[in-house]
Amino acid sequence: MAELVQRMLDQIRAEHADNDDGKLADYIPELDRVDPSGFGLSLSIADGYVYESGDTATEFTIQSVSKPFTYALALECLGMEAVDAKIGVEPSGEAFNEISVDKTTKIPKNPMINAGAIAAASLVPGATADDRFDRIHEFYSTFAGRELAVDHDVYNSEQASGSRNRAIAYMLQSFGVLDGDPDEILDVYFRQCSIKVTSTDLARMAATLARGGVEPVTGRRVASAAVVQRTLSVMITCGMYDATGDWVSAVGMPAKSGVGGGIAAVLPGQLGIGVYSPLLDAKGNSVRGVAVCRGLSANLGLHFLSHTRESRSTIRNAYDVRPGVRVFELHGDLLFAGAEQVLRRVDGERDEFEVAILELSRVDDIDDAARRMFAGMRESLVAAGKEGFVVDPDRVVEASHTEGAVARVFGTLEEALGAAGNERGAPAESGG
Ligand code: DON
Repeated sequence: MAELVQRMLDQIRAEHADNDDGKLADYIPELDRVDPSGFGLSLSIADGYVYESGDTATEFTIQSVSKPFTYALALECLGMEAVDAKIGVEPSGEAFNEISVDKTTKIPKNPMINAGAIAAASLVPGATADDRFDRIHEFYSTFAGRELAVDHDVYNSEQASGSRNRAIAYMLQSFGVLDGDPDEILDVYFRQCSIKVTSTDLARMAATLARGGVEPVTGRRVASAAVVQRTLSVMITCGMYDATGDWVSAVGMPAKSGVGGGIAAVLPGQLGIGVYSPLLDAKGNSVRGVAVCRGLSANLGLHFLSHTRESRSTIRNAYDVRPGVRVFELHGDLLFAGAEQVLRRVDGERDEFEVAILELSRVDDIDDAARRMFAGMRESLVAAGKEGFVVDPDRVVEASHTEGAVARVFGTLEEALGAAGNERGAPAESGG
């Protein structure tokens, strides 16, 4: 069956293979030497299964696709507050290499433009440039699930042609954003841009973000969920530079592009996409990369704001198992909207039962907000002289009894019914 998806991918890629619009980045001479026809498309499902189409083994330099990962590393190492003091999170609407800081705060507008990325590299702890770079290099490699190499020719070329980045770094130093020697920090930044990846590496790195920071194949946690959430937020608002609005409207995924021709795109909870094609549009984004992502999003329904199942389906069924005991069968993933709907329904019907039993055997997952709401639900049922039980064989609600007042939890409906019988005569002492 996997060949169905493979065929879809091959077809979408084939639709754009003849498009040779755009041009190679030439402001770094070495980037002008690559084969312009290279075109690879990789898709990593959140469980680590990878589909590949075209030149997915071709290595190219990660360039600006590195920016979200160094930002994530800085956040991991220093925490949000310290990083926020040096780098903003506002879209700039400017070119990636604009020599700019925010007019009011005097810090880079966001970590996806060069100014913010150079500031992020400066925040990665390390006694020397080598220490900092080693940390970055290892971090990217764990995201990709393999040891990545550096392209020394591209690195030398970046160093030799990096006047604009030097201007940015010295400007940042003058505003007190950079602690340390700007040239040393630039050396780290140039090296991070010169790390070699394939489209499959980018797909896996993106899938790690899609999994909230857990690398799908190794199962290793690389970054915290909070750091990933912040990183994806800046990718969605600033990842495609001054073409971000167009990208979000048409593709609808947090993403980052680089002048090496790579794009990494993330559909949280579902998948990561990596594309390589080095011919760039005027804004520095891969022409075929953008086109193929538009095609994938439209054909596979990947836009993150596409209308999904409504939460009214949370309650699968409700019935009285005997007079006074009403069972509410829930299913799917329980998040705020679903839990709110359950609370309202249980509340609205509470004159019709003595005991409400929430049957969660078919619930896949529940977040902390929904858990807290269920905890509160029992409190208000008890206050109204009623009782609330939960049937939770897979222990999805039990994972965090943060509020301590979660309804009594049973492994089976029979056990809950037994307790409900006691409840109506002599209350049972404790839940299962
Ligand atoms: O800062 C630079 O010039 C590059 N090494 C990285 C730029 C880049 O990839 C911009 N992305 N579109």
